[in-house]
Amino acid sequence: MVVLVVVQLVAFCVVAHGLSSSSSSSSQNNRLFLDQQEAMARQAAHEEAVFGGTERELVVPKAVRVAASKVKRGSGFAGGRQSPAEKEAAARAKVLAREGVLKMPGLGRDTAAKLRAAVLSEIDEAREAVKLRPETSMSRFHAREEQKLRSFVLLPLRRDEGLDDPIVSATAELLGEGTPLGDLYEKLCGPEAVLYDFYGLRTEPGSFRQPIHSDTPFQRVPPLYASFVALQDVDLDMGPTTFLPGTHTETDARLDFDVGMLDGRRDAMLAKAKPKFALLEAGDLVIFDMRVLHFGAANHPDKGATRIFLNLTFRNPRANADNLGHIPCIRPGFVNRFTLRDIRCQLKSDAPFDRAGTGLPPLSPAARIERQARVA
Ligand SMILES: *[C@@H]1O[C@H](CO)[C@@H](O)[C@H](O)[C@H]1NC(C)=O
Repeated sequence: MVVLVVVQLVAFCVVAHGLSSSSSSSSQNNRLFLDQQEAMARQAAHEEAVFGGTERELVVPKAVRVAASKVKRGSGFAGGRQSPAEKEAAARAKVLAREGVLKMPGLGRDTAAKLRAAVLSEIDEAREAVKLRPETSMSRFHAREEQKLRSFVLLPLRRDEGLDDPIVSATAELLGEGTPLGDLYEKLCGPEAVLYDFYGLRTEPGSFRQPIHSDTPFQRVPPLYASFVALQDVDLDMGPTTFLPGTHTETDARLDFDVGMLDGRRDAMLAKAKPKFALLEAGDLVIFDMRVLHFGAANHPDKGATRIFLNLTFRNPRANADNLGHIPCIRPGFVNRFTLRDIRCQLKSDAPFDRAGTGLPPLSPAARIERQARVA
């Protein structure tokens, strides 16, 4: 049974990340890809039926709202007694420890809109680059080929758009000194937290509901905390991400889900699961412990709309990094390169990430000559 679940999850991850998408050359691979997609669609439809309309909206818990209302932003963590900002981060960390997921403010509407435009430009640039050099697709789209309905675009840390660089502004608003998310990550993982994923996620109308899954296998110390920021409003038709709160630890319910597929325990567990979907306004953020069960709902083919998210993950340096089950979704040159402390330090400087480079691999000598010839 366990083997069956594992095989299924591996198949899911491969399809989800488009790793088997280079199948154009082999009809057999293509067949396998389609079979996997069909099996996933069947499973997702089954899970939807088992929920039977028990999904509810994910809301900001009252204790967190109260703690947040007492903070004068920018006051930071004071030494000695707990400051209001520390109490706010502690209230959030407590919810996250209990539920495995938490909604909170991320970006202002204006920053979110500017970042959305920047992510769309990055997608255009990546498409151009990959058209010329298909072998660079992995370092641009985290896949051998960009998928039509759902793709990742790996982002730079700055776009050289002068002082108002939209990526730098967004990073400053999210992680800079005294920000709620930055303070929360510091509380959860300490200043040595490692930036692990950094990308834009695009889903289009017609993209499927995913089967329920977690992004990293269980270990006692939470290894990865993922955040995603909506860069436009996300309504029910756009496939809100849906969570099964409390399933990030080894509870009986989680065990039923993991090993009860064939004897009905999984379905019984799902029928009682109290799923929560994340309806979001532009700029809203959801942070989750990547051990928690969740899925992306379908983006409706007619009533849906293009959905862009900024996703970022930090790895907890106190956890075991050997078995994360999740390849870093970040430009290759940025893998294990920045801690939260580094990022905060950069954001305080005059030219944040000025010397970070693009994070893309250098062109091969042959490619460089070819490009020079093209430019000349
Ligand atoms: C990225 O964001 C999307 C938002 O829809 C979410 O479903 C997904 O789980 C996130 N993944 C990670 C690794 O953060």
